[in-house]
Amino acid sequence: MLADSYGRTATDLRVSLTDRCNLRCSYCMPPEGLDWLPKPELLTDDELNRLIRIGVTMLGIEEVRFTGGEPLLRRGLPGIVAATTALEPRPSTALTTNGIGLARLAPALAEAGLRRVNVSLDTLDPDVFERLARRRRLDDVLEGMAGAAAAGLVPVKVNAVLMRGVNDHEATRLLRYCLDHGYELRFIEQMPLDAQHGWRRDNMITAEEILDRLSAEFHLEPAGDAERGSAPAEVFWVDGGPQRVGVIGSVTRPFCGACDRVRLTADGQIRNCLFAREESDLRALLRGGADDEEIAQRWRAAVAGKLPGHGINDPSFLQPSRPMSAIGG
Ligand code: GTP
Ligand code: 5AD
Ligand code: SF4
Repeated sequence: MLADSYGRTATDLRVSLTDRCNLRCSYCMPPEGLDWLPKPELLTDDELNRLIRIGVTMLGIEEVRFTGGEPLLRRGLPGIVAATTALEPRPSTALTTNGIGLARLAPALAEAGLRRVNVSLDTLDPDVFERLARRRRLDDVLEGMAGAAAAGLVPVKVNAVLMRGVNDHEATRLLRYCLDHGYELRFIEQMPLDAQHGWRRDNMITAEEILDRLSAEFHLEPAGDAERGSAPAEVFWVDGGPQRVGVIGSVTRPFCGACDRVRLTADGQIRNCLFAREESDLRALLRGGADDEEIAQRWRAAVAGKLPGHGINDPSFLQPSRPMSAIGG
């Protein structure tokens, strides 16, 4: 079991498969991209599979989520998914992706046993998409979402980050589109995790503001904590249900007290929080010949030291040195 000193247990492992991405969303990366991790520093597929096996069979991990950067850029992804879903007890699996290439890959991922996907979609306007993500790929993303649904990777959840003056006029349009296509939309408050350190609290579109905008066109009813569990999204029934919309208020409505997450970066570091100040180097242990129990022990110690919350609202908050794309969403 992965327990911390505040009564929480980490059962949800989020594995970053690469820090690379084929988009350049402005809330995440500068236009020129970042200095990607050199290949030898990345865990190999075998190393990843071993750590996931230790997490699931020795440490009580119940759900494995593959993230990035953009996880579809990792060639071995279907094999890693297959190795994960073959474990006993079988963990639940999910993928968080920007959707590019998903239409082509969805059948193989479903075949490998992947359960469901979350796709980022911040706008339905091709010009806004190009401005925000600095690539003209909106149609690829929409096709990816449709392909995932057709392959049975459901529910397809959609993540949208609203930015003032960029796409914040599209909240209701995005919701209408997701309702029409049977996707579950969640709006995310922007967090200080961009590589450029450009986040400003005053500029953030808050959960409250999002709910106000949606309420102008939709009737929203809180679905209650039973629908939420330890998930970051507060869920609302739309126009009486059964469809729902979520709001992830990471900054103004933090949910750290119910956090059940632990993260593994593409270069083999355990982070006990998105905002952790320290990492535990499992790659060095692996490559130094440690046995499974030694690795499990280091992992337990990493989670035991987890802080109670992210501290974004503390005056002394310091942004982590790794950007979101190198941590995993
Ligand atoms: P499901 O609802 O079970 O699919 O999971 P999820 O919402 O965690 O999945 P996803 O990877 O799509 O994450 C959505 C967003 O939630 C991320 O972009 C983050 O903004 C936020 N988020 C995820 N994990 C954390 C976390 O540990 N802490 C905080 N503060 N935010 C998180
Ligand atoms: N704040 C909030 N969400 C972010 N994402 C990326 N960067 C940030 C940020 N700074 C979201 C993406 C994607 C998910 C993995 O994380 O939109 O949906
Ligand atoms: Fe890539 Fe995700 Fe960052 Fe967008 S938010 S640039 S999709 S890693």
